[in-house]
Amino acid sequence: MLLEVRGLDVAYGDFQVVWDVSIAVAAGEAVALLGPNGSGKSTVVNTISGLVPVQAGEIRFDDQNLTERPTHHRAGLGLAHVLERRRVFPHLTVRQNLMLGAWHPAAKAARARSLERMFALFPRLAERQGQVARTLSGGEQQMLALGRGLMGLPRLLMVDEPFLGLAPQVIGQMRAVFEAIRREGIAILFIEQNVRLALSIASRGYILESGRMAIAGPAKDLIDSPVTRRIFLGG
Ligand SMILES: Nc1ncnc2c1ncn2[C@@H]1O[C@H](COP(=O)(O)OP(=O)(O)O)[C@@H](O)[C@H]1O
Ligand SMILES: [Mg+2]
Repeated sequence: MLLEVRGLDVAYGDFQVVWDVSIAVAAGEAVALLGPNGSGKSTVVNTISGLVPVQAGEIRFDDQNLTERPTHHRAGLGLAHVLERRRVFPHLTVRQNLMLGAWHPAAKAARARSLERMFALFPRLAERQGQVARTLSGGEQQMLALGRGLMGLPRLLMVDEPFLGLAPQVIGQMRAVFEAIRREGIAILFIEQNVRLALSIASRGYILESGRMAIAGPAKDLIDSPVTRRIFLGG
């Protein structure tokens, strides 16, 4: 496994929100992290990237223990994280935003080539490379946020709610981008609330409920599971 999270507990101060969560992602695999609002999805991913400290448990990436490593070390090892709400720098251009994704030494050395790769993957960004990010549509900003993550040459790209608020047509484009990324051998762990959409993209999924893992398994098993129905349809 490329990523292995075991027995993760996370608290904000005295307020525990995640209990005993374990997640694994193999190289080149697309995996969905699902759950209702407030179930702890963002907290888990923020803990994996080091933005939130671990209370208990272990995070291993490429057979190294990351649990105590600072966030910027994790990026250098090939772990990228696209935060919730497509945080791009609004006053910088598309090209500048992308370049900022290539800050660690290995990524920096490859950034001219990476930029060409991003413009091939996201033709809209190529057309708008001189435009400031705040003038992009929501879908284009999400593509830019993904592109910035990919500029760091990750082996695992973690994306928090990439489909949120996107028009159906843009969801189709995003899906194609995910497939292209995965074909390059980059693993994806993405957060989503729409079970059908997520499990039509991911090969496996994990469903959180109130900070605990309710069920995990292959996408086809999760779709048909009564546990999934109970959590998302309340029946
Ligand atoms: N920075 C924070 N400080 C305190 N509580 C937080 C913070 N971020 C999230 N929480 C709480 O942790 C729980 C899980 O939130 P979150 O991980 O954002 O869930 P999700 O991404 O599944 O919607 C919620 O109860 C939320 O209110
Ligand atoms: Mg969230």
